[in-house]
Order: sequence, then structure tokens, then C-alpha cells
Amino acid sequence: MCGIVGILGTGPVAGQIVDALKRLEYRGYDSAGIATLEAGRLTRRRAEGKLRNLETRLAAAPLEGAIGIGHTRWATHGKPSEANAHPHASEKLAVVHNGIIENFKALREELSAKGHKLETETDSEVAAFLVTDELAAGKSPIEAVAAALPRMRGAYALAYLFDGEDNLLIGARRGAPLAVGYGQGEMYLGSDALALAPFTDLIAYLEEGDWVVLTREGAVFHDATGKVVTRRKIRSPAGGLLIEKGNYRHFMAKEIHEQPEVVGHTLAHYIDMSEQRVRPFAWPVDPAKLSRITICACGTAYMAGLIGKYWIERFARLPVEIDVASEYRYREAPVDASGVTIVISQSGETADTLASLRYAKENGSKIVGIVNVPTSSISRLSDSLAPTLAGPEIGVASTKAFTCQLAVMAAIAISLGQARGTLDEASAAALVAELVAIPGLIAQALKLEPAVEAIAHSLAKARDVLYLGRGTAYPLALEGALKLKELSYIHAEGYAAGELKHGPIALIDEAMPVIVIAPRDPVFEKTVSNMQEVAARGGRIILIGDKSAAEEAAVGLAHFLAMPEMGHEFAPIVYAATVQMIAYHTAVIMGKDADQPRNLAKSVTVE
Ligand code: G6P
Repeated sequence: MCGIVGILGTGPVAGQIVDALKRLEYRGYDSAGIATLEAGRLTRRRAEGKLRNLETRLAAAPLEGAIGIGHTRWATHGKPSEANAHPHASEKLAVVHNGIIENFKALREELSAKGHKLETETDSEVAAFLVTDELAAGKSPIEAVAAALPRMRGAYALAYLFDGEDNLLIGARRGAPLAVGYGQGEMYLGSDALALAPFTDLIAYLEEGDWVVLTREGAVFHDATGKVVTRRKIRSPAGGLLIEKGNYRHFMAKEIHEQPEVVGHTLAHYIDMSEQRVRPFAWPVDPAKLSRITICACGTAYMAGLIGKYWIERFARLPVEIDVASEYRYREAPVDASGVTIVISQSGETADTLASLRYAKENGSKIVGIVNVPTSSISRLSDSLAPTLAGPEIGVASTKAFTCQLAVMAAIAISLGQARGTLDEASAAALVAELVAIPGLIAQALKLEPAVEAIAHSLAKARDVLYLGRGTAYPLALEGALKLKELSYIHAEGYAAGELKHGPIALIDEAMPVIVIAPRDPVFEKTVSNMQEVAARGGRIILIGDKSAAEEAAVGLAHFLAMPEMGHEFAPIVYAATVQMIAYHTAVIMGKDADQPRNLAKSVTVE
């Protein structure tokens, strides 16, 4: 994981590096560090914890160098301490790394036996000393990096800075993204285009196995075999302005409230609003010939896939197999070589999702990518791209990207049903009418915020929370529980309401809040029955349902959140906003950092 940046500048670069790191902090915030050349000599500043700690250190002891590298870390190997913070350095060079070097133990032993003094607990430090060792053997920096790269197994994006080399940075990529930025007499390296957006929008991406030599005069790309290659320069759409919180206390709150707008924006991409028809989606395989669809994703994107499965199966009568990408990539699943795999990812860089995409592709499947970052690896590797137009999402816990993923899944499921002849015109039109009403309904749901806040005060005292739902509300129960635990650190479980009696009912007592998500759908009454089972055992029920749901439930409720009335098919997109607010306010009341929960990162580029 982690974010890396490198700048060959015309003046002091430390401030620019910090700016870029701010935009990369979503990739990790366990520690941060910078190395520059001060009068030609390598100098580092590092600090444990969030970037502001490094800024404090730099304010006390500024760096003036016109070339430098920087890093923001999500710890994989070695605790989040200053000693383990990047850049890692020898006397000859400093390096920043994103990824995992899997054979680091063997390399560390080999390098230590040769007399190199490796001082950290990290895997990344071997990337510094492998090259240092090659330099000691008389190689130039370029030759040394070229010799060292093939020795590292695993995943890396690397940026090297060399002592005494005021006009040279070397970057490399395998399994983790890296972009080169072109400025006016300045050159940049960064984990993504967003990091480089304040400086340039002219970008070239390293391809898998590439390494690049940067001077102020330009970039020379090499492929994995060392051959000089050309990589296309593109204009990146990433905005130069750092995204601000506006009047909100956290990015997460802002992103929750942006949902009516961004979901509407996303729907407008898939639906012809004047005709009220879904535009035909460009499936990479004739939809009539499909026999099943596979979906892979991680985290909240996986929850979007779970809900999408209900829609595709219902509207297009196609069986859908779905798996978390970390399992799918290794379980040697048979791939339908004439089929389609849908991968869902906000960042488009999640390592396991990317690996699943590659596995499916290598085995003949075509890829549909539902992705929020159009320049990402997953976007570029997809045969058909289904963009979510959520805009940059900064809060680590996904909110608006999730509801946009749902909007896309809904639209393409309708389009698939029409293309396969399983949805007639009238049914498709009815579904579209329901779908286009969703942004307005989310806006209404957001008005429940004061009521949600009151409930959050009681949840903040809970040790465990259970979420229940049926149908598409079941994956939403999983998502609600995930959100609550990642933000508030309260243990939470999502369960299919019908499964309650097969185990979790044993957990229920007067202290256990049970959040029941019960939109008015064909299984509403079944959910109500399960709720009665909870009530009979003294559980504290928090019901999320439409206005008459509380009355019909006919049980004592601890709290009730009255959702707007709506058609049932796409209710989870609206109800999502409510479960997000529950988690957000509980975390804030408990004094937790809602934007950057402990131990997490937004883009998980390691497996
Ligand atoms: C992390 C984030 C989640 C996100 C997941 C998948 O765990 O904290 O919010 O859902 O990664 O990320 P992706 O970028 O692939 O959607």
C-alpha cells in the first residue's frame, strides 16, 4: 500500500512533496517521510503517525533541496514507527516503496551476510540495499537498479534518490501503480495522477514491469527486459485543487451529503432522461450468449456486487457468482471463457481485485470494470468500462462511491435484461422510473440526520450491534455492520434475517441493539416476523423502514427511522445513506477519526 512521490524541481521541493502526500494520505497514514539532497547529500525527515506530524518536523527543521522523494505509509511489515518509516536509506541512496517484497527475508539475510546494516523491520529496506550492493560492485545508479529489480519478488512501486546525483530519480513498477508527470523544467513521479495534479496534468503511466529514469530533461522508460520503450503521454482529468471539506466537519459527512448529486450524475450517464430509457450498455460479449456472470471486489465494493447479484439474477435471469477478490484470485475457480467478469472498485487499484481481473482475463473472460477512477489500472485493463461518477472520494470508508456503484449495477442489470429479452419494455420502464427517483429519495433520507444522531448516542455505548435484513437489505445489513465497525470500532455483525434463528439469536439480550433494515419489499413481512423473534427475547430494536412499517411491526421499538415511501427494487441505494449516517455519527460521538479510521487505508494496493 502506501503513497509515493518523487520530484525533480527547480527550487525547494519539500513543500510540493508534502502537498502531493496530502493527496496520497488515503493510501495510508501510519507514518510519513521525505528525503532530499541538501548540498548534494541525502537528508531525511520522518515522523510516525499522520502527515501533520511530518509537517511539524519540517517546520522545525526545513529541507531546501530541489530534488526529493516522499512517502505516506500503511504498515505491512514492521510496526508504524519512525524507525520503520520510509524513505529507507543507505549512505548511497534513499528509496520509497509501495507494495510487498515477498522474498525480503532471503534478501535481507544475503545482504546482511555481505555486511550491509539493515536497521528496520520492513520488507522495503531490501530495495535500498540491493541497489546499494550493486553500486558497491561498481555499477552506475541506472545499471544498479536494472540489476536489482529482477531480484525482488512480489509487488512494488519504487522511487530511488541517489546521494550526489542532483538530476536523477529512478522509478519502477510491478503490481503497484506509478505515474510520471511532465512539468516546466520539472519532472514528477507519483502513485497516481491525483497526487501530481497540483503540478501537472501531463501524465504517462508505467506499465507492468516498467522502470523509468527521470532527469529534469525528461523520462526514459524501460520495459521489464530493459529495452527502451515509449509510454504515451495523456492529459489527466484529475483536478488540481485539493478537495476541501467545505462546511463539513469530515470528508465522510460531505461525501454522504453529495450522494443525491453524484448518484444523479451517474444515473444520467446510463439513462436517457428525456426518453426515460436505459442506454444499451456495451457488453464485451453478446448478452444473449452469456450463461453466467462472475463478480469480484473487496470491502464495500463487494457489498455493491452482492446487491447487484440480486438485480442481475432478477432482471436478466442470469446466474451470478460473486466472491471477495482475495479468495477468487487463489481458489482456482473455473472461468467461463466465453463469459463476463464484473470487477467493482472505487480506486481501480485494489491489489486483490486487480489480480482477480488478471486471472479472469488470462482464462479468457471479458472484463466489465465498474470503477470510479478512470485512469486507474482496472479501468485501463477492462474491456468495457462502466464508470461511477462519484468524483474523488477522500473519506477512507466508502460512501458515495458505493451508492454510485449500486446505481451502475442497477442500470446495467436493466440493460442486460432488455438485451436478453427477459425484461419487456413496460417492466424496464417501470424500473427506470423507480431508479430516476432515487437521488431525490436519498435527499429525503438525509433529512433524518438529527434522528440518526440521537440514535447514535445510544449506539455509542454498545459493545456489539447486530444488523438484519432480507433480500437486497441483507447485503446492506453486511455493509451497515462493516461501516459501524470500521468507523467506531464497535463489534458489529450483519445477518440475513432468516438466519437469525440458526445462531445469532443466542446473542440477543437487553443490551444488544439490533438494527433491522426493512424496506417495503416482497419479504417485508418475513423480516417483521424475525423482528418479533428479537423482540420476544428483549432485544433493543432499531427499525429502518417506511412510515407505516413501525405500526405494522407491532413490536416495541427502541427507535424508528421513518424512511420515505418508494418502490422496493432500488431501496438499498436510499437506505445506504441512513446506515452510513448511523456509523458516521456513532464514530464522531465516540471521538473517533471518521475520515481516517485506525489501521485502515482507502486504497489497498497490497494483498
Ligand atoms: C478499503 C476501503 C473500502 C473499500 C475497499 C475496496 O478497504 O477502506 O472503503 O471499499 O478498500 O476498495 P476499492 O477501491 O477497490 O473499491
